[in-house]
Amino acid sequence: MAGLRAPRRPIFAANWKMNLLRDEAESFCNDLRGALGSPEADVVIFPAAPLLDSVARSIEGLSVMVGGQDVHHESEGAFTGDVSAPQLLDAGCVWALCGHSERRRDHAETDSLVGAKARAALDHGLLPMICLGETQSQRKAGETMDTLSRQLHAVLDAIESSLDEEGEPRFALAYEPVWAIGTGATATPALAQEAHDFLRTRLAERLGTRRASQVRILYGGSAKPGNVAELIAEPDIDGFLVGGASLDSVSFRAIIHNSAAAG
Ligand code: PGA
Repeated sequence: MAGLRAPRRPIFAANWKMNLLRDEAESFCNDLRGALGSPEADVVIFPAAPLLDSVARSIEGLSVMVGGQDVHHESEGAFTGDVSAPQLLDAGCVWALCGHSERRRDHAETDSLVGAKARAALDHGLLPMICLGETQSQRKAGETMDTLSRQLHAVLDAIESSLDEEGEPRFALAYEPVWAIGTGATATPALAQEAHDFLRTRLAERLGTRRASQVRILYGGSAKPGNVAELIAEPDIDGFLVGGASLDSVSFRAIIHNSAAAG
């Protein structure tokens, strides 16, 4: 599907996971205030739920968006510990991560539950950032593309009827090979591009070529300042979902800067 590249605005997303306290989050945002300017990219911070409100306040006036790390598939009710799409919106969120591999692994999230979460996000006006990726054993067994295909089709089955025919697709994908998350073992650019190209081709089969060419597909898995330039040079890599290297504003800014310099 190379050659389909449309002008896609890159996204740089910080997935803070269960890290940082309010003071640290606020000083991270202040550091961005001093240095970010108006990047030719979307910048999104995914803080832990208790930090959403203060991060949303701290980024006021900055071209930065905030998102929830997870969203429940129901809009309200007796679901202790969960967070709904309307609550995320109320806290100032624009995005919701759906199906991060740590949630699939630690909270037994199935493909169909991930689809239901993405659907709930969309139906309430949030933009789902849907994570997919194979484990080490799936890659070793030659099951990478089957895994990606299964995860993608499950989510498209859930959200397709909520997508507009016109306009930009209101979701993004994040290809995150599980073996690369938090391990320092980044996918090579060629290997990541192969997966992104595969995903875009499958998207085109479901949504048509034009819409597939507009969907932003981020790479995640040990992205850091030293490897983003070569990754974003690939035609189907449209930004990064960054964990460890997003906890420090200096390295997160360097990821944005080094990617822009490569483009
Ligand atoms: P990592 O995490 O950058 O620490 O590998 C990425 C992610 O889990 O989104």
